[in-house]
Amino acid sequence: MPDHPLAPDWLDRSRARLAATALAPEAEAVGRVVRVADGIARVTGLPDVALGALLRFEGGQHGFAQALDRDAFDVVLLDDANAVVAGDRLSDTGAVLRVPVGEALLGRVVDPLGRPLDGGPAIDSAETRPVERPAPSIIERDLVSAPVETGVLVIDSLFAVGRGQRELLVGDRATGKTALAVDTIINQKNSDIISVYVAIGQRATAVERVIAAVREHGDPGRCIVVVGSAADAPGLQWIAPFAGMTMAEYFRDRGGHALIVLDDLSKHAATHRELALLTREPPGREAYPGDIFYLHARLLERAAKLSSECGGGSLTALPIAETDAGNLSAYIPTNLISITDGQIVFDTHLFAAGQRPAVNVGLSVSRVGGKAQAQAMQAVSGRVRLDYAQFLELEMFTRFGGISNARVSAQIVRGERVRALLNQPRYCGLRLVDQVALLAALAEGALDAEIPGRLPALRTRLATWLDAHAPDAVAEVQADGMLRDEARVALVSAVAALVADGGMS
Ligand SMILES: Nc1ncnc2c1ncn2[C@@H]1O[C@H](COP(=O)(O)OP(=O)(O)OP(=O)(O)O)[C@@H](O)[C@H]1O
Ligand SMILES: [Mg+2]
Repeated sequence: MPDHPLAPDWLDRSRARLAATALAPEAEAVGRVVRVADGIARVTGLPDVALGALLRFEGGQHGFAQALDRDAFDVVLLDDANAVVAGDRLSDTGAVLRVPVGEALLGRVVDPLGRPLDGGPAIDSAETRPVERPAPSIIERDLVSAPVETGVLVIDSLFAVGRGQRELLVGDRATGKTALAVDTIINQKNSDIISVYVAIGQRATAVERVIAAVREHGDPGRCIVVVGSAADAPGLQWIAPFAGMTMAEYFRDRGGHALIVLDDLSKHAATHRELALLTREPPGREAYPGDIFYLHARLLERAAKLSSECGGGSLTALPIAETDAGNLSAYIPTNLISITDGQIVFDTHLFAAGQRPAVNVGLSVSRVGGKAQAQAMQAVSGRVRLDYAQFLELEMFTRFGGISNARVSAQIVRGERVRALLNQPRYCGLRLVDQVALLAALAEGALDAEIPGRLPALRTRLATWLDAHAPDAVAEVQADGMLRDEARVALVSAVAALVADGGMS
């Protein structure tokens, strides 16, 4: 026993140890937890703490400061709330909340603080950035000029989304909002766009399905999944969309292109309301605090197309919002509709009638994407929306007794084919040239003879058929997105030949 008090030199050694110990006073600002409940800790001390500052508890947990009062403040916990108890000490880290950014995140599933959830090693990234960052100013932006190809005909032809645009996906529960967003992510396996999927307050099984779909059909190595699931601390769910934005901005700021899906902001708004009520902020309409509009506006403003002086990168945002009984004029949906550059409205009735994606063509709009469409798509999609809208109206009328008129029945024949084409299963993304060929053939009546029920089979064979029968036209459209007359003729006759071939087999 070397350190026994009876050891001969014990006293000397103890004296030496005492002399080596610094006994000078040392100032350390510490706070103390007064109480903890519902993911929020009430803290006294730390008079100099700043709003949003990152704090560390003695057990290693983290939180950020909210609701600063004269002699106490609230800390929104980012970890397991049960691990923090009244009496715990905490200190100010002197930093704001930051997340790792960079290529190391690609292919990974992380929580909103960038900690891995996929069982892989910790994210090996040299750089971290604050989760709250200012949006690019007007001078740093450019007009949206190139499309994000979703591969979904109804979107690319009627409600095109441009790179740098913010397009809201809004609709009732289980109407296919997530499915469309995931299809868009999957289709980016053919583009240079990096995708970030942010799950906010979702069930773990729903998130698992998204990850499985991307792994099976897409290019998971060019996606980042950020999960703040329903089981996580409210604070963690709250920062999830901001953290996802920061991770996506990294690619935008390097002149690259990124796409972020925020699934969904209704749940984020509910989390914000929960935290606001717990920190005694005054409630406003529908009990949301007054800053809910500013919260989502400052988040979505970060999606942008940058000017060429700033690298020319883009960040496109697809926020998702849930409605109740199709009520688009509820508080959160109207806020989000006015913040974004358009909305895709999903309809329960269309979904029940078997339309996939169940997009309500009358209520949906894309305010900037049309200008970003490739010329080839603009050339063929112009009349589709009008034709289809007229058809939907006519169909209502003719249901109550036939109006037999050659023009009306021609319109109905055409409309039924448009509907069949717009009905697209999941994971069946179409290339630009496939979509252009279909719409050109439709406009010239090449599909009128085909029964609508057979169009899905035809669409499945389309890509390989066009590559084999109109290779020059395909190459031309793919090269510069332009549709010239010869290419148009070649594509239409290839589709007509496919119709004939399908009829024989
Ligand atoms: N284009 C499609 N083809 C076939 N099935 C589809 C299509 N789009 C959606 N679905 C199916 O519809 C169901 C609901 O879709 P999804 O989960 O995407 O809806 P949601 O609006 O995100 O629902 P929630 O409100 O629960 O998040 C899923 O089973 C999905 O597979
Ligand atoms: Mg969903």
